[in-house]
Amino acid sequence: MSFKEKIDLTRLPAHVAVIMDGNGRWAKERGYDRIFGHQNGVVSVREVTEGAAEIGIKYLTLYAFSTENWGRPQQEVDALMELLVDTIEKETPTLNNNNIRLLAIGDIQRLPDKSAEKLKNCIETTSGNSGLSLVLALSYSARWEISNAIKNIAADVQSGKVATNEINDALISSYLTTNGIPDPDLLIRTSGEQRISNFLLWQIAYSELYFTQIHWPDFRKEAFFEAICDYQQRERRFGK
Ligand code: IPE
Ligand code: IPE
Ligand code: MG
Repeated sequence: MSFKEKIDLTRLPAHVAVIMDGNGRWAKERGYDRIFGHQNGVVSVREVTEGAAEIGIKYLTLYAFSTENWGRPQQEVDALMELLVDTIEKETPTLNNNNIRLLAIGDIQRLPDKSAEKLKNCIETTSGNSGLSLVLALSYSARWEISNAIKNIAADVQSGKVATNEINDALISSYLTTNGIPDPDLLIRTSGEQRISNFLLWQIAYSELYFTQIHWPDFRKEAFFEAICDYQQRERRFGK
């Protein structure tokens, strides 16, 4: 029986978030440049997105580029940005055919103009789709997001739009870039590292964590379905 057949479609996670890690190591093990790993990682992005849409998951968030990743060698940053633009452009018709809506979270203004523009186009073109929402975290970090939220809350308190005693979990959530998106039920990290690397810190308060040794370019549909099966074995308690 395949992992896909084992999935209970009545108990799917509404939101799966993925830290796509290990492209560089995958390439190095094969004697290639890190960029080759990123290129092959795109195939996994396509497969996992397709897999999520196939079984009816509503939200898939992919950590594609962190705030800290700006500190990588310029050549790698440029290659990643170019890959992003190319992929988004090439995949827009497929997203539409599969009723997938693209969203982005992160400091998009920091992206090169061309990348930001292509991203905006794809988001607009797919905005009417009602199937899977594919959320790309780009130039994203949770501390950046939380700092911004605090700045905006402070401004709204100062202007009288928000009263201090109205600040609670729900209000804070509504100031984050994920406003309107349910918190992840499942967080997957590939390639063996057991850390969060500044991803969705507020939102993963009660997420189930799943770590696998598989490098991202080797993480394909069945590996994704295996993670969903593992999630379905867990007992979630939410402190109760
Ligand atoms: C993940 O793979 C992709 C990005 C962070 C953009 P890495 O590039 O981090 O690969 P490793 O972790 O060095 O193997
Ligand atoms: C996390 O991976 C960021 C993304 C997957 C985009 P990193 O490779 O940047 O994280 P660290 O440096 O291992 O913590
Ligand atoms: Mg890494």
